[in-house]
Amino acid sequence: MIRRIVLSAALGICAFSSTYAQNAIPIPDTLTGNAITLNMHRDSVQFFPGAKSQTYSFNQYHYLGPTLILNKNQPLSITVNNTIGDTTTIHWHGMHVSAINDGGPHTMIKDGDTWNPQFTVLNHAAMFWYHPHFHGKTAKQAIKGAAGVIIVRDNEEATLALPRKYGVDDYPIIVQSVQFDAQNQAMPLGMQDSTLLVNGTINPMLAIPAQVVRLRLLNASGERSFNFGFTGNKQFSVIGSDGALLTAPVTTTRVRVAPGERYEILLDVSGMNGQSIYLMSYASEIPMGTQGGPTMPMGMGNPPMDSPLNGVDFNILQLNVVPATTGAITTIPTTLVAHTPWQEQQANITRPIRFTAANMMVMDGPFFFNDSTFNMMRIDYQIPQDNIEIWSLTNQTMVAHPFHIHDVQFYVLDRDGNPPPAYERGLKDVVMVAPNQTVRFITKFEDFADTIVPFMFHCHILMHEDAGMMGQFVIVPKVTGLTVTPITSGIKIYPNPTNNNLTVRFGDNPAATFNYRIVNAMGQTVQSATLQQSYIDVASLPAGFYQLVIEQDHKLYVSKFLKQ
Ligand code: C2O
Ligand code: CU
Ligand code: CU
Repeated sequence: MIRRIVLSAALGICAFSSTYAQNAIPIPDTLTGNAITLNMHRDSVQFFPGAKSQTYSFNQYHYLGPTLILNKNQPLSITVNNTIGDTTTIHWHGMHVSAINDGGPHTMIKDGDTWNPQFTVLNHAAMFWYHPHFHGKTAKQAIKGAAGVIIVRDNEEATLALPRKYGVDDYPIIVQSVQFDAQNQAMPLGMQDSTLLVNGTINPMLAIPAQVVRLRLLNASGERSFNFGFTGNKQFSVIGSDGALLTAPVTTTRVRVAPGERYEILLDVSGMNGQSIYLMSYASEIPMGTQGGPTMPMGMGNPPMDSPLNGVDFNILQLNVVPATTGAITTIPTTLVAHTPWQEQQANITRPIRFTAANMMVMDGPFFFNDSTFNMMRIDYQIPQDNIEIWSLTNQTMVAHPFHIHDVQFYVLDRDGNPPPAYERGLKDVVMVAPNQTVRFITKFEDFADTIVPFMFHCHILMHEDAGMMGQFVIVPKVTGLTVTPITSGIKIYPNPTNNNLTVRFGDNPAATFNYRIVNAMGQTVQSATLQQSYIDVASLPAGFYQLVIEQDHKLYVSKFLKQ
């Protein structure tokens, strides 16, 4: 049995009173400053009559977590305490931080442990978010509520006449569509998701003042895309995308938002005091093949995906307009921030990535990049620091995939050769790729060389990601003459597994001098040295998997080994 919420469609502007109970959404409290603590814990919420739903959340919350408000260029130290009863990782989605601080799948926090990333905030003013990234369990953990938003402010944004009073005229709107089972528990693989949560609230309502308000939309769903709009096709202005404000507001009646994506919009409700409108998804306009569009006919071996939200227009959040505040923003600026996108001719390389599946009929995965499933032991790309790259994403599957890359923000160049819609021309870290489509983006891999800890790229449909639609890259330092070679060429390391020693042989040169680093599963360097002998003593390492990085004669070799 699948739990369903019956949705009422509101097509006109309606009066305040409503036929079913509305719950005011919480605007999460903020954390600021240079030292922030996040306590990730187990909790539960009474979403439905009967059993409570088990959740994961942060600090005082039963679901989701506080909003981090950060300033560009500030130093930041975050203490993450994990008490969920399971291993996790916490990732700062969209933020430009070094790989060791990024919270990807290699940076595990065991139950009862603490993780303390430290970095300088380098992003532009925009909204980012944090969520778990423990490989294989990202969907399970995120869908139980382990997420929160990050708002970065900067000097450029501060000079613009924009609403920025958090919770007064500037709101984080975290939209999730979740499937709950008959025991009221969130289902990570739920493709019949039908419960809509806004900031963790069912039947959500928000009171907004009769002026220009700023809504920071985040789609934190596991798989569903939304085609956001308002009652009666009311116009709004998109002012920002994943990683920055746009060059100018884009006036529209729709913005398509895939899992992981964010858009900031301005909505002018001046003169509407006492009225209500809804944030909606006009999902009837979403094409078949994109999750949220009409249900696809069942393919071979696929489960049904007949959510009542598929392919129909529905309300998401009731907005009740209340009197304007003093000092209200009443106009929408004509320009925002300057962008200088990288030019195609600057690119050092184009990387083609095909989205694939075992066969063409597969609708629920597993899906792959270039036919190979994710492997934590395999580095897919070694990218020279400061490379400007075009990534060319071709979707050869039947369903749409929102592609996300860590470390960088990018500019979308084109979709099948056509320029993207105006609101997609700013900085982004997630881009939707429709079936049979090729999307190209351009980016630059600045700042964070680390030959050991990789960054991820993956589909942000969480079940696809968990099932292996993910890859990883390292940024190699710009050292003249340094080339990166897979460990299999020109080097032998044995035995693997080992108890005491690893013998290292470079071709037929038994006495080479080399540098090495051994990195544990937490991404920490546990042993390093320069050696002139043909073996590495690993006797003192605790049992487990390690990454061995060797540099010899301007070549870099990377491999995993098992210490018994
Ligand atoms: Cu929001 Cu790698 O993820
Ligand atoms: Cu990310
Ligand atoms: Cu996908």
